[in-house]
Formats: sequence, structure tokens, C-alpha cells
Amino acid sequence: MTDLSDESNRLIADESLIDLVNTKQVIIMTGSGGVGKTSCAAALAIGASLVGIDTCVVTIDPAKRLADALGLDEIGNDPVEIQTLGQGKLYAVMLDADATFDDLIVRYANSPDQAEKILANTVYQNLTKNLSGIQEYMAMEKLFELHNDNRFKLLIVDTPPSANALDFLDAPRRLIGFLDNKVFRVIMNTGPSFLKPVSFATKAVLKAISRVVGAEVVDQAVAFFQDFEGMQDGFRARAEIVQELLRQDQTAFVLVTSPRGDTIQEAQEFGLKLIGFGFRIAGLISNRETPDFEKTRISYGPEIDVEQHDRKILSQTLTEMKDLRSHEQLQLTKLTRKLEPPRLVHIPTLLRDVANMEDLAQVAKHLLSENKKT
Ligand SMILES: Nc1ncnc2c1ncn2[C@@H]1O[C@H](COP(=O)(O)OP(=O)(O)OP(=O)(O)O)[C@@H](O)[C@H]1O
Ligand SMILES: [Mg+2]
Repeated sequence: MTDLSDESNRLIADESLIDLVNTKQVIIMTGSGGVGKTSCAAALAIGASLVGIDTCVVTIDPAKRLADALGLDEIGNDPVEIQTLGQGKLYAVMLDADATFDDLIVRYANSPDQAEKILANTVYQNLTKNLSGIQEYMAMEKLFELHNDNRFKLLIVDTPPSANALDFLDAPRRLIGFLDNKVFRVIMNTGPSFLKPVSFATKAVLKAISRVVGAEVVDQAVAFFQDFEGMQDGFRARAEIVQELLRQDQTAFVLVTSPRGDTIQEAQEFGLKLIGFGFRIAGLISNRETPDFEKTRISYGPEIDVEQHDRKILSQTLTEMKDLRSHEQLQLTKLTRKLEPPRLVHIPTLLRDVANMEDLAQVAKHLLSENKKT
């Protein structure tokens, strides 16, 4: 087996994210499903507040116990302050995509009447559940809304459990594409609808569609696009500003992975795509690593009388764990050679789920401890 670690270690300047939390305004946690994005986002926020930085974390679908630990038992689409022992303040938000979208409609509608009609439309009400990428877009929207909030200096944003982790970058473009809906515009003969009578041909098309999906759905869809007329520009302009914010120096992307199996392959694909889009990966978190037993001193206290037979099993298990760890580290080294993240943080698998403040503080310690390589 080739040992790649020496060469790869030279690429990594830092094994901590402390300088990121000290210098950046927005940190975005990305990665494929289930790798620990939400846990790491919450832990990093707690760590940052403990070192004195006023921080807000936007979480998405945290596990119930984690939400409870953060005091998010009631849906909070607006920042709620969480009491910690740190010098900095800590706020948390649990993203409510529906409410965020509603707020946008109200903001961009030309009149309260227009907003009311759209909000009551069943096609609109189903959008947030059925149009892929809406949750991703609303996460970005929330980022934009909160990044200028002067109650905190640092905003940490979790990303949704997308099948494709890059959906959140592409979501604004897709949403706007949908709202611009060319097909509907052709059908509706474009322009302000009240000026143009629906043509005979259009009626025939709509009738045909009605037969398949039901007349009510078509009526609601027609009403939705008519009511939406004129609001696309506001959405487009805002999406462009969000894209710009993502590219600014003050924004950092942190990629979370676990050093095993398919996940590491997904991280590589995702990382390369991110770089392809022109974003830099500011840090890589290798989460749920098999612990380093070389560094862990295992002592059998006098109270534990380990039988010879059990000792043999324990020793075998230890060898297996060490092999597993070397394999993971080799995979990780290959990944870091490809993505060249300037920072790499290792987090071992904890004995249980990350579900309370203590667990989060433990993860935070790994994320922010200042054991610089250089
Ligand atoms: N280092 C760790 N040790 C033990 N358990 C962990 C660790 N990191 C995360 N977990 C657990 O793994 C599970 C998934 O973590 P989390 O919800 O943070 O992942 P995620 O990437 O946000 O998932 P999703 O893509 O579904 O949003 C949770 O039960 C969490 O408590
Ligand atoms: Mg999550």
C-alpha cells in the first residue's frame, strides 16, 4: 500500500477551523446525506460563541433531540437566543421553507391583494413541497436575510439533505426558470393577462390538459402564473445577489464527509463540482472517524478482571479497528490530494448520537482546537 499521508499533510495548513470563525461572516456546511452537516453546523456555532463570537446558526431538520438541545422545540424561522456559558451570543434558527417563501411573496407582491391571492392558491401551496430545490433555495434566502443582521457577526448555515448536494447552488436558477415558465407564457399568450383574451387554440390546449389533471388544477395553475406576473424580476435580482454573496471572500464553504465507502466518493464528486462552479473549499471535516487507538491508552483497571479468552477477542477487535482506521485515513488522504482543502479537521465517532450541549461542545472542541500543522 502506498503511504500518501506525508505528501498530503503538507497541503493542509491547519487542523482547526478557528481562523475561519474568526475571519469569515458566513460559513456554509455542505456534504452528502447523513454525514453530520447539521451536527457540525450546530457544534461550530456553539464553539464560536464559546470563544466570544456572536453567532447564529441556521439548521435544517435537526433530529428532535438536537432541536430540543438547541431550544428549537417550537419551529423558529426567526433567530432565538440560546443560553450558553460562552462570552459570545448564540442564536439558532430552524429553517421553515414555507414561511420563508411566504415572506418573499409578501415582499415582492405589488399589492397586499396580489400576495393574498398567491398565498391562497393551491398550486403555490404545493410548490414548497413538490418543486425540487425549494428548500435549498429557501436556505440560501434565509442566509441572505440574516447575513446583515447586526445581532451577530458570524452566520453558520446548514444545507438540506439533498440527493444532490449541489442543489442549493442551482436552486435559485431553477426556481426562476419555473416562475418564468415559458410553456405557460406561450399558452397564456404572454403579457398582462387581462389585456389578452385567451385564444381559441389556448383554450383547446387547456381543455386537453384539464382532462388529464382535472379542471381545478389547471384553473389554479393559470391563476397562479397570472397572479405571479411582474414578480419574477424581484426574485431574479435577489437570486443574483445571493449568488454574489456566496462568492464573496467573507463566505466559506466547509465540506463534511465520513471517511468511508460511497460517502468519500460522493464528497470527491461534490467537492470537484463545487470547485468547478468557481467556489473554494475552505475546510474539510472528516466526521465519524474510527478513533485512533494508538493514541488512546487502554488500561484494564483492577476492578475489571478480563479473562484470557476475552483479552484475545479484545486484541483482535483492536487490530481490526486499527486496520479500519488506516484504510479510512488512506481514503481521506486521496480525497485531500484531489480537493486540496487548506484545513482538515478529524472528528471521531462519539459513543452516541450528537444530541445535547455536551456532545456538541465535544465536537466543537475538535473543530476549533488550535493544533496548527505549520
Ligand atoms: N461524530 C459523531 N459521532 C456520533 N454520531 C454522530 C456524529 N456526527 C453525527 N452523528 C449522528 O449522525 C446522525 C446524522 O447526523 P446529522 O443529522 O448531523 O447529519 P446531516 O448531514 O445533517 O444529515 P442530513 O443530510 O439528513 O441532513 C445523527 O444521528 C447524529 O447525531
Ligand atoms: Mg441535516
